[in-house]
Amino acid sequence: MSYLLALDQGTTSSRSILFNQAGQVVASAQQTFQLNTPKTAWVEQDANEIWQSQLNTIKEVIQKAAIQAHEIRAIGIANQRETTIVWNKKTGQAIAPAIVWQDRRTSAFCQQLKDKGHESHIQHITGLMIDPYFSATKLAWILDNTPHARTLADSNELAFGTVDSWLIWNLSKGCHVTDVSNASRTMLMDIHTQQWSTPLLNLFKIPQNILPSIVASGQEITHTNKDLFGAKIPVFAAIGDQQAALFGHDCQQAGMAKNTYGTGCFMLLNTGNQVIKSTHKLLSTVAWQKTGQMTQFALEGSVFMAGAIVQWLRDNLGFIKESHEVEQLASQVKDSDGVILVPAFTGLGAPYWEPNALASISGLSRGTQKAHIARAALESIAFQVADVLHAMQQDAPVPLTELRVDGGASANNLLMQFQADILGVPVLRPTLTETTAFGAVKMAGLSCGFFNESDFSSMWQLDRCFEPQMSEDERQTRLKSWKNAIQRVIA
Ligand code: G3P
Repeated sequence: MSYLLALDQGTTSSRSILFNQAGQVVASAQQTFQLNTPKTAWVEQDANEIWQSQLNTIKEVIQKAAIQAHEIRAIGIANQRETTIVWNKKTGQAIAPAIVWQDRRTSAFCQQLKDKGHESHIQHITGLMIDPYFSATKLAWILDNTPHARTLADSNELAFGTVDSWLIWNLSKGCHVTDVSNASRTMLMDIHTQQWSTPLLNLFKIPQNILPSIVASGQEITHTNKDLFGAKIPVFAAIGDQQAALFGHDCQQAGMAKNTYGTGCFMLLNTGNQVIKSTHKLLSTVAWQKTGQMTQFALEGSVFMAGAIVQWLRDNLGFIKESHEVEQLASQVKDSDGVILVPAFTGLGAPYWEPNALASISGLSRGTQKAHIARAALESIAFQVADVLHAMQQDAPVPLTELRVDGGASANNLLMQFQADILGVPVLRPTLTETTAFGAVKMAGLSCGFFNESDFSSMWQLDRCFEPQMSEDERQTRLKSWKNAIQRVIA
């Protein structure tokens, strides 16, 4: 059996990527699906579409590679985190649309929790800041607002899961589990014991019987139902996509960090087997747990808008036809000429946690052109990452000396150079940009014996190192203008 299959279920598409034993991509398939915004601040997906699109890509990749399902040694799943799905255990049908991590409908509820003084208590148990981002308030909302949901829950007919659980349930036809890294994003798990927290289940009125069992990120979890692909394929890993990218970058030592430029931007710093409590509004989160080993933890800075800003320039403003054209447009000018875009389109995440902040563009003049706004848009991604890195440098026990990067926008050289300039640390881009998928198959491969730990360091190859070139004076001036712009949107 010569292959490992990564399922990379993201916010905007489902992908299946087949890897060989050398860690190289053999074939891949991708299917996009609908993101619905029925009301301001609501972001939903059809859970069935998530599953069907993932299933289609698995079938497509098997066909493209001209292999049989039995040649796949194991599946590793990496998924968009926090997105909340509730389904009927008997029918397997979701009882409501999936509430996506970006959805802010529960911000008033979160504010009430803060007003009642739950913040430090919840941070202590879960490592998280109270925010609509996490699953707990989304799950409570579904139970309270879907007809008969509470009655069905009382009669043990409902199941809750994040996307890893949903895919595993459908792949296996009935196995109800979640991995510990995904569970750590629900705001219902005690990060210290890695068990569901009874006080939090009581606080959010979540019945225990709807919860999945928590399993390690890398272990023999289940296998696919034989009817799906003609052979049973074992599932040997499930891990949140950002944690998968951290593993894919081989950031296995405490002090190593990565940043993924996807829909949002997610910087994770490995903190080893210690939960580091942030004093600068970062999240403590589970990185992963390998079979039979101690759980590893990370500090995380989650930024909600990154690649999505480029999509906004493309789809809402019509500045470009394809996302990659943004680099060329922004390169037409030497700087943003004082224009600053604060992309608080879905509030602000780390380190501000302001769900009600609104986006702004400031510094416009008679001479402002599209290129200046495009440049300001790219710079806003880098500024947000800088805010997170500065918070991390204050929380981290060891200074952060380099940043490994991946995700769509990491291909943008202009952005990566500006990122290194504004951070003042080198930015390292690897040759393999499928870091998330690779992290999932590495975890699966390790669990099933397909890979050894010693295989991994040589699998991470440097494509380009962006060294900081900006003077300290200029960096400080630019950061100060950015901070002022931020203060205006949260004031
Ligand atoms: O926490 C949300 C994150 O997991 C989403 O990742 O890659 O779908 O933007 P992505």
